[in-house]
Amino acid sequence: MEKKPYTMKSFNIGSGKLTTPCILAPLSGISDLPFRMVNRSFGCKYAFTEMLSARSLICKSPKTNKILASVPEDRPLGVQLLGRDPEDLRRALDVLQRHYTFDSLDLNAACPAKKVTRRGEGAALMKEPPKLQELLRTLVTHTDMPVTVKIRAGWDKNSINARDIALCAQDAGIHAIFIHGRTRSQKYNGSVDYRIIRDTKAAVDIPVIGSGDILSPFHVKRMLDATGCDGVAVARGSFGNPWLFEQTAYFLTNSRMPLRPSQDEIINTMVMHLNLCCDFYGEHRGTVLFRKFFSWYTKGFPHIRPQRTRAFGAEQKDHMLSIIEELRFAATGSKLNPLEIYGLQRNLYQEEF
Ligand SMILES: Cc1cc2nc3c(=O)[nH]c(=O)nc-3n(C[C@H](O)[C@H](O)[C@H](O)COP(=O)(O)O)c2cc1C
Repeated sequence: MEKKPYTMKSFNIGSGKLTTPCILAPLSGISDLPFRMVNRSFGCKYAFTEMLSARSLICKSPKTNKILASVPEDRPLGVQLLGRDPEDLRRALDVLQRHYTFDSLDLNAACPAKKVTRRGEGAALMKEPPKLQELLRTLVTHTDMPVTVKIRAGWDKNSINARDIALCAQDAGIHAIFIHGRTRSQKYNGSVDYRIIRDTKAAVDIPVIGSGDILSPFHVKRMLDATGCDGVAVARGSFGNPWLFEQTAYFLTNSRMPLRPSQDEIINTMVMHLNLCCDFYGEHRGTVLFRKFFSWYTKGFPHIRPQRTRAFGAEQKDHMLSIIEELRFAATGSKLNPLEIYGLQRNLYQEEF
């Protein structure tokens, strides 16, 4: 039977129009400038910085500049703030607007980390709708940037309130809502609840971007179909797999799963990513930070364990490069199965596509 191609909808974050559904999510410790540029080279059109606490911004902590660094090709780009004090947010905005330019500003009401929620920030704001609304009003009043919020399904399974929080947030005048369809108690475990995202989308008039379990083009389509959301936030699915963006565009247009990139292309991308990390952070730090990406890029590579162990000991770029280059020879004759890489069962693939 002929499959109907997906009709690509567009949506706006403020005046910024998005014509593809995938946005690169804010990812602490991951979505730095090198990571974003790698993803952009494979079709990512809108990205977010890592979350940044309003207080760090006010104190100009040394990490701040790295988190906020960007280049003209890294656009459009949203920045994400963490905070619970309106005055802190206002002062952080002052610093931000004096020194930087972003295309949107997101408030994090989703981070489940104890060190964050203990301070009443991140997902803890799900328990205080009036407080969250006050913070969003402050942001909307003090900036011309489109303001968005990232929320969770609720604090725990007994307090699912994403829909009410979304209505509260909309009333504050924000432009879009990102919703991670897990509760704070779930952290990153268990599966995402599409029903909660669908109910939230149905309740508000502003764009809703779904987040959770976006690991392949198939998952993107499933999120869009099951929830009616306007876009999806790509998070763990992009780790070692920046191709997800262009592959999703191909899949939605052609209703066929594209081939996985060749092993040579993966290796070339690893080299590009390593170079970007070293240019940005310096050779030693760039190499150390790249280690985790080595593991992600080589997921599914046969007999990879010895190289991974050595990559985790690499301290200099040349050493890491030589381990990456070894993979070109090891790659010959390997049989990578794209379905395995995507973690999908064959029957699921056939049924759903
Ligand atoms: C390592 C890591 C860092 C993250 N950092 C942030 C962050 O800074 N801000 C944020 O709003 N969400 C953050 N998230 C949550 C993701 O944006 C996303 O909502 C979540 O991972 C669910 O999507 P997934 O199941 O497709 O990974 C992070 C997630 C991970 C795994």
